[in-house]
Amino acid sequence: MTHMHITAWALAIILFFVANSLYKGGKTKPAKITHMITRVLYLAIIGTGFALIGSSFGFYAVKLIVGIIVIGLMEMVLVRTSKGKSTGALWIAFVIAFVVVLYLGLSLPQGFKPFA
Ligand code: HEM
Repeated sequence: MTHMHITAWALAIILFFVANSLYKGGKTKPAKITHMITRVLYLAIIGTGFALIGSSFGFYAVKLIVGIIVIGLMEMVLVRTSKGKSTGALWIAFVIAFVVVLYLGLSLPQGFKPFA
């Protein structure tokens, strides 16, 4: 399950950057399609995340919240970019939240444990 979780968020992050540059390049239609696929992947990230949580909810609450924040920021960056609005502060928040959730995910007991 950690492999499915990693696959889901890695794909989502890649498509997030693709959608972002398509919006930037004014290619609205392919950008919208990529953006929709990214949204489906959000559900896969959250679903596999919950499957990993199992029955120890309290222990995982922080990882869950920061993970949801990362997804929220991805969505806010893409929507604001599609409208031609500024995204500087959102990008900073996204990078910080992404690094935090990577660290949390990799420190927790299942899957890879490079920091343990
Ligand atoms: C884009 C957002 C997210 C990223 C980048 C991310 C990243 C990661 C990483 C790197 C791991 C470690 C995998 C391993 O060691 O094999 C992990 C595990 C995990 N993630 Fe996420 N995650 C995200 C969103 C979520 C969400 C939304 C949830 C909750 C619904 C969640 C719940 C979990 C759980 C429970 C684990 C297993 C932790 C453990 O016991 O080792 N993640 N995630």
